Amino acid sequence: IGLGALGAIGGVGFWATSGKHEEDAGTAFATPLAIPPLLQPEMLDGERVFRLSAQAGETELVPGVSFATMGFNGTHLGPTLRATRGDKVRVHVRNELAVATTAHWHGMKVPASQDGTAHQAIAKGTTWSPSWTVEQDAATLWYHPHPHGQTELQVGSGMAGLFLIDDKEPSGLPSDYGVDDIPLIIQDVTVQSGGQREGTPTVTPIGRIGNTVIVNGTHEPHFVATTRQLRLRVLNASAARCYNLELSTGEDFHLVGTDGGLLSAPAAMSTLLLSPAERAEILLTVPQDAEVVLRSVPHDLGMTKGDNMTSGAEDTFGILRITGSKTGTEPPLPTALPSANHPEAVSGVERHFMLGDTTINGKSMDMSRIDTVVKASSTELWTVENTSKRAHNFHIHGTQFIVAAENGGPPAPRNQGWKDTVFIEPGASVQLTVPFSEFADPATPYMYHCHMLWHEDQGMMAQYVLTNGEASAEPMMADGAMH
Ligand code: C2O
Ligand code: CU
Ligand code: CU
Repeated sequence: IGLGALGAIGGVGFWATSGKHEEDAGTAFATPLAIPPLLQPEMLDGERVFRLSAQAGETELVPGVSFATMGFNGTHLGPTLRATRGDKVRVHVRNELAVATTAHWHGMKVPASQDGTAHQAIAKGTTWSPSWTVEQDAATLWYHPHPHGQTELQVGSGMAGLFLIDDKEPSGLPSDYGVDDIPLIIQDVTVQSGGQREGTPTVTPIGRIGNTVIVNGTHEPHFVATTRQLRLRVLNASAARCYNLELSTGEDFHLVGTDGGLLSAPAAMSTLLLSPAERAEILLTVPQDAEVVLRSVPHDLGMTKGDNMTSGAEDTFGILRITGSKTGTEPPLPTALPSANHPEAVSGVERHFMLGDTTINGKSMDMSRIDTVVKASSTELWTVENTSKRAHNFHIHGTQFIVAAENGGPPAPRNQGWKDTVFIEPGASVQLTVPFSEFADPATPYMYHCHMLWHEDQGMMAQYVLTNGEASAEPMMADGAMH
């Protein structure tokens, strides 16, 4: 069987055109979608205590093809953690790898010392036990390692899991985990031509791109719906590949949540671009007694003007086949979601960041340099401009922000609500309203960076600290001296 028949990207996908190749259903996209298990916490001294252990091994991610993989509590991906607003959470992260790692709570409002960056490295054979109180809106967050220079390798090997936050009030959205509330962790891996072995990924200006998509570790997954409405919590956990999601039926779906929480109302859309680390919660109506394929369709990422700008996003390929239930009526869409006071643009300290090929404001990451000093509990306006010919995105740790403007106009529909990572195509700019937390700690930096992991590893990352003193524009060394 050639790669095309395996459904690999770049070949003639079975699902490239809706309504065609129906005879292939059943031979491709036939493996039941794996659902990451919910990790049961212990309640100890009023804390919700989770135990993770980072492990390495081999996993057959594609039939007949084993990969060297890494994961949490297993050799690939990690279990789903779940907590409710107000919970005190503690996670014991044991490192059973042969190398150092970290565990970063992407999107979580935690003190910098609990954030799991390279400043909180977990040496092999040791355990790190961060704790914090969950104080943010219901959202689909995630966790992954953040060792400086090694993030692409470790995340790309499978170290990623979801961390779901619930509100005390139910949202009215489908919420039966694995039944009508479905996590989808999308990654791409590389299978050698011929399909027998792990291969070398294609290196592009935005990083390493695989030729085969896996979802929750399942190759060509199939999900049999038992309800007419599904909530998909989609995480792009790829190193570089962007997905431009669409339904093969051509029907609209509804975006109900972005990185850090729910929208105020569902937003209908036909395609949705998701860059690395972004999450989207979407509601879709499963056709009665019929099938729909969630697939990725071409998007130029704004890079058409550059040279040799292969990004992987120009391909069409299937992600998940869903078979509809034979029965059941279509439930109404919720008209309002219990969200979220999304702040209006406010005045505050304004900063400007320019994204180069692999730099921010012309600099490379230096773990001993503090680039930005922010007053704790203040709200700032950050303008981030992509001055390179490469696509980038921009992620800020320890907060959720609002995209107040995009290229001077209203933000794209996909950038509504709370975000922690925003896609910025070449030549574009975004203006972010960023409310920072109260966790002043001038000695421990948070990061902001491009979440295309090869760029991040190349040093496209910088550090901010929260202070009780005054905000400052001047970079400082970690000892407090001006740079
Ligand atoms: Cu998803 Cu700096 O992290
Ligand atoms: Cu993060
Ligand atoms: Cu980048």
